[in-house]
Amino acid sequence: MVKASLCVLVTLVLAVIAAQAQAVSPAKTTQAVMDAVVKQEVENAINCNPGVGAALVRLVFHDCWVRGCDASVLLDKTPSSSSVEKKAANNIGLAGFDVIDSIKARLHDVSCADIVVFAGRESARILSKGSIDYTLAPGRLDGVVSSAAEADATLPEASFSFQELKDNFNRTGFSVEDLVILSGAHSIGVAHRTSFQDRLDAATQTPIDPEYQTALRYRVNVDGHKTPNPTEKNNIRDMSPFFQGVSGYNSSGVNLYTPEAGALDNSYYTANLQKMVLFKSDWELNQDPTHFAGDKLIEYRDNAADWDLDFSDAMARLSSLTSSGPKSEVRKHCRRTNSY
Ligand code: HEM
Ligand SMILES: *[C@@H]1O[C@H](CO)[C@@H](O)[C@H](O)[C@H]1NC(C)=O
Ligand SMILES: *[C@@H]1O[C@H](CO)[C@@H](O)[C@H](O)[C@H]1NC(C)=O
Repeated sequence: MVKASLCVLVTLVLAVIAAQAQAVSPAKTTQAVMDAVVKQEVENAINCNPGVGAALVRLVFHDCWVRGCDASVLLDKTPSSSSVEKKAANNIGLAGFDVIDSIKARLHDVSCADIVVFAGRESARILSKGSIDYTLAPGRLDGVVSSAAEADATLPEASFSFQELKDNFNRTGFSVEDLVILSGAHSIGVAHRTSFQDRLDAATQTPIDPEYQTALRYRVNVDGHKTPNPTEKNNIRDMSPFFQGVSGYNSSGVNLYTPEAGALDNSYYTANLQKMVLFKSDWELNQDPTHFAGDKLIEYRDNAADWDLDFSDAMARLSSLTSSGPKSEVRKHCRRTNSY
C-alpha cells in the first residue's frame, strides 16, 4: 500500500519534471539525457512492479525479430488494421508498454524503436546488478506496419524442435551458439500455463524431470483455481524452497538470494541440465545431434562471467537488427503511426 502510493507519487513528480523540461528546452535530446531518463523510468517501474524488468528484456526480442527493431510491436489496433503484432499468439504475455510510453512522454524526439532497446538494456543491467551491459548507438526509426500473422510466422515457438529453433535463428543471422546464449534470458520472468501445457501432459511430454513435472502440475492446478491461464516462474530458482525441495532441485552454484524480480544470470543452464525448465524449446537445446548446443549449456552453467559477456554481445546484435521498411518515421506516440 505504502509502496504503491509512493510509485504513483514518483511517477507524478517525473511527469512534472518532463513538462518543465519541454517548456524550456526544445533542443535535441542528448545521449546523456536519454540515458538518464531511461534509467530513472525503468528503475522506478521495476521498483513498482518487479516483473516488468523481464517484460522489457523480452520486448527487445519480440520487436527486433519481426521487421527489425522498428517498434512495430508497440502499435495498437486501429479500425483499419486490427490484426497487429500485439494480437499474435506468440506475443502472449507481452508487457511493459506503459514504461515505454512514460519514457516517450519525456523524450519526444527519440524514436520508439530506440526507447525499446535502451529500456531493455537498462532492465538487463538492473536485473544482473550491472554484470550485463553493452553499448548501443541511437538512430533507429519507427515503422508503420504491424501484423499478427507476420509475428506468428517469424517468432520461434515453445513447441519448436531443435532444428526449427536453429533454422529460425539462422534466418535472422543468429547462430546455434546465439540460440543457447539468448535462451538464458529465461532465467527471469514468467510464462502462462498454455505455453508449457505440453510439458505437463503425460501423453505428449518431452523429457522433463518427473518430480519437477509433478510439482509443476500441482502448482498450476492450485493457481488455476484463481485464473484459467495462470502464470508460473520460468526459473525454478524463483520458486519456493518447498517447490525446489520436492522437485529435487540441486541449486549448487546458483545464487538463491535474489531480489523479488529474479536475477538475470546463468542459473537457467543449471535448471536446464537438470531437466527443470518450462518450455520444450528450452529442453530441445539438449537435442543437438552434434552436441554443440549441449556442450554450450554445460559451459555456461559452469562459467557465469562468460555468459554475462556473451549475452551482452548477443543482445547488442539483437538490438541492432535493422528495419526492413517500407516507411519509417519518429513516431509522436509509440502506440500509433504519425499518419493515423
Ligand atoms: C529461443 C526461442 C524462444 C522461445 C521459443 C521463447 C518462448 C517464450 C515463451 C513461450 C514465453 C512465455 C510467454 C507467456 O506464456 O506469457 C517466454 C517468456 C520470456 N522470454 Fe522467451 N522465448 C525464446 C527466446 C527468448 C529470447 C531470445 C529472449 C530475450 C533475449 C527471451 C526472453 C524472455 C523473457 C524475459 C520472458 C519472460 C517474460 C515476462 O516475464 O514478462 N526469450 N519466452
Ligand atoms: C546459417 O546456416 C548456413 C547454412 O548451414 C551456415 O553456413 C551459416 O553459417 C549459418 N549462419 C549462422 C549465423 O550461424
Ligand atoms: C549437486 O551438484 C553438484 C555440482 O554439480 C554436485 O557436486 C553435488 O554432488 C550435487 N548434489 C546432490 C545432492 O546431488
